[in-house]
Amino acid sequence: MTGFETRAIHAGQPADPQTGAVMVPIYQTSTFAQDGIGRHKGYEYARTGNPTRTALEACLASLEGAAFGFCFASGMAAEDAVLRLLGPGDHVVIPTDAYGGTWRLVDKVHAPAGLAYDCADLTSLDHLAAAWTPATKMVWIETPSNPLLSIVDIAAVASFAAERGARTVVDNTFATPYLQRPLSLGADVVIHSTTKYLGGHSDVVGGFAGVNDGGLAERLGFLQNAAGAVPGPMDCFLTMRGLKTLGVRMDRHCANAAAVVEFLAAQPAVASVLWPGLPGHRGHAVAARQMRHFGGMVSFTLAGGAEAAAGFVERTQLITLAESLGGVESLIEVPALMTHLSVAGSTNEVAPGLVRLSVGIETVDDIIDDLRQALGAVTATTAH
Ligand SMILES: Cc1ncc(COP(=O)(O)O)c(C=O)c1O
Repeated sequence: MTGFETRAIHAGQPADPQTGAVMVPIYQTSTFAQDGIGRHKGYEYARTGNPTRTALEACLASLEGAAFGFCFASGMAAEDAVLRLLGPGDHVVIPTDAYGGTWRLVDKVHAPAGLAYDCADLTSLDHLAAAWTPATKMVWIETPSNPLLSIVDIAAVASFAAERGARTVVDNTFATPYLQRPLSLGADVVIHSTTKYLGGHSDVVGGFAGVNDGGLAERLGFLQNAAGAVPGPMDCFLTMRGLKTLGVRMDRHCANAAAVVEFLAAQPAVASVLWPGLPGHRGHAVAARQMRHFGGMVSFTLAGGAEAAAGFVERTQLITLAESLGGVESLIEVPALMTHLSVAGSTNEVAPGLVRLSVGIETVDDIIDDLRQALGAVTATTAH
């Protein structure tokens, strides 16, 4: 079973031995009968393990090329468990454009408990070197980043960190393992908000961490059970169902994004477009090397600035104004006022005029028509 799409459908999911059910059942149970004390079929209590969760963990680990995988109740819960690999006095470098929730977790939860941190522009190793301290134990990468879509050279940062005895974590939420596999580029931990492309249908919240190192796996498994931020079996089932179509969905997300970018770049009302697939994007060469395609997320600014951006996102009709991303439907937002409100006033603040668009897999002409009407441009039909 080597192909990505095959593993997305089958890895960890043999037909149910008892009934032949083709889909892994939703084991909606909190506990498992024991034949004698400590004699059981591998499951004791559902926080520690549940067969539906085991199937999802095996599938995600296979897709990321990880020997071990752990699912969590949300992406933030996965991030929290990974940050708990560090202790008071340790130092972590996070990106200046990290997801707002990541910055908040580090600054407002782990820093008060003794974790030291610095933000650095990880698109340059010089900036990483400047942020480095003797206590640095971890580098946190997000690539493409949320919402600026900057690209970090995973292999270069991972080898820089490894040479200095530190671990590299990659938040692979925007790329998905279909487009990019961080562990194969030297990262130690790959994490996800499975809420996004992996689930893919905006109907479930979840998180994942994958590793190859046995010691790291033991600690993450311990933290998953000890802190208990685990997903329920229904959530695991939904995520697994979404995963089965990840490859075909990503192909369409990427193709639609490319067409949307071409449209936006030609509009006088649009001041700038950020997408790693654009040859002029700063990270284009690295993205072309480490990603299969450039992803379905597009950010842009309008010539009219912040006010125009706020009006624009309220005028879209097909494209839903909402937080989150990676679902089959197109979603649009203003990060500074929505997903990244928590970083306002910090070093990681997002410009107020930036619009973030999660390009869905609807008919691409319909997406573009909606953008056109929201921009207030004259449509092709009314021009005649
Ligand atoms: C890049 C990235 N990482 C992590 C998270 C957090 O995931 P969750 O919302 O599932 O807790 C998000 C959420 O938007 C995200 O965009």
